[in-house]
Amino acid sequence: MSTNNNVLVFDTTLRDGEQSPGCTMNLKEKLEIGHQLARLGVDIIEAGFPISSIGDFEAVSTIAAEVKGPIICGLARAMEKDIVRCAEAVKNSARPRVHTFIATSQIHLEKKLRMSKERVLETVHDSVKLARSLVDDVEFSCEDAGRTEWDYIVDVVNAAVEAGATTINIPDTVGYTTPWQYGECFAYVISRIKNAEKIVFSCHCHNDLGLAVINSLSALRNGARQVECTINGIGERAGNASLEEIVMNLHTRKDFYGLETGINTREIYRSSRLISKITGMKVQRNKAIVGANAFAHEAGIHQDGVLKERTTYEIMTPEDVGWTGENMVLGKHSGRHAFKTRLTHLGYDQLSDDDVNKAFDRFKALCDKKKDIFDEDLHAIVQDAVFQAPETFVLDYLGISSGTTAVPTATVCLKKNGEILTDAGVGDGPVDAAFKAIQRITGMHAILHDYSLDAVTGGMDAQGQVMVTVECEGVRVKARATSTDVVVASVKAYLNAINKILALNEAGNKINVPKSGM
Ligand code: KIV
Ligand code: ZN
Repeated sequence: MSTNNNVLVFDTTLRDGEQSPGCTMNLKEKLEIGHQLARLGVDIIEAGFPISSIGDFEAVSTIAAEVKGPIICGLARAMEKDIVRCAEAVKNSARPRVHTFIATSQIHLEKKLRMSKERVLETVHDSVKLARSLVDDVEFSCEDAGRTEWDYIVDVVNAAVEAGATTINIPDTVGYTTPWQYGECFAYVISRIKNAEKIVFSCHCHNDLGLAVINSLSALRNGARQVECTINGIGERAGNASLEEIVMNLHTRKDFYGLETGINTREIYRSSRLISKITGMKVQRNKAIVGANAFAHEAGIHQDGVLKERTTYEIMTPEDVGWTGENMVLGKHSGRHAFKTRLTHLGYDQLSDDDVNKAFDRFKALCDKKKDIFDEDLHAIVQDAVFQAPETFVLDYLGISSGTTAVPTATVCLKKNGEILTDAGVGDGPVDAAFKAIQRITGMHAILHDYSLDAVTGGMDAQGQVMVTVECEGVRVKARATSTDVVVASVKAYLNAINKILALNEAGNKINVPKSGM
């Protein structure tokens, strides 16, 4: 059993997290998140899967060059072309890591890889050896270890360690295992690996049965010293283990686990908001640690207790995770300096002067329509002004006719390369009519999978925020827009989605290999 009580936090928000349906991020967004993860104090950032697309390669190499502090890691299948490309992408980091993997469960061997156990062992050895010839820090994962016989995991891990792997990850890829089995598996494997004390064992859990966090904690109780997780638990299918829940468990129950991390817990809330805003994945209100209700006390008896002595009903404080309440911070008379300072406080400290100016112009325009500007408004402003994909189509004019008896009709004018394109549509309502007009103008049959409308803040003058999930040409994206007029917000969100799809295709972000698996 390990005597080291330091747990390395390996954040995979930018790789496994990005694999959440519709969560594709652009380079600028990934870089902003990379800097926030460094401030949060994660030990390793898995920045992407370089072979999967040109966009992923660029994101990993830019983060490797610009984000200082954490190890920067890229993912590679156990294949020569993946490993070479991955090593190339991380080479500009002061601390580069290649993370290579191959599946080990019987079902994956038979049905997916069509490889024998012996052949997989050879592949593990050769790929880790190749990776080690390119970088000093190599992590190896046995994909679907949660459904692999333990003795075979031992054989695979021994092959990887012999070839030079320094970190061994035993992932529960499909979220199948139980806390008891997963913990025992770590104890079993670690006790059978030569020189195990020189290796860092890592856990990586998916949340298909809602057990990702507890399975990770169980692995840590049984000798794992690296935990792979994502902010807000985003990730494939039901997601990955949530970073904030694991960290706050270890922090709040240090008496029980006896383990610590290097995470600055006061950066948790900020990180959560940033990721939610950028990916468009909302955080459920009752989510542990970062949900809007996580520190709200509704029952009178609880409120009374908290007012008398906070610890009667609170095991951690909102301040511990950096939650400072909904702040009314700025207004009409606030200047550029105060505006920029507040953006930095929200985690946007990498914006160029040009970006800040664009955001400031929007802020001033909003101040004419809305008296009090809250942090949530500022997040929306930055997303609209700075992180939108390059605009191939720009909304120039929107005219709507609708009512209880009228047939909803929309006239839309879009600008493309200085040319104005106009068309009209009818639909079930004004939003549907406008979307149809946009489809006719752009020639893109962009299917709407999801639509939601929320008020950004409270109050009669609150902005409406529309979030859409749209699919076209095999690419699915989320996009958002805000406006004090909800039909305008809807049209802009839909157009942003179309522009995002065009930009992704342009940047070569079309996935040319499956995002995981061989
Ligand atoms: O879930 C998984 O097995 C993975 C591996 C690539 C580590 O994400
Ligand atoms: Zn995974």
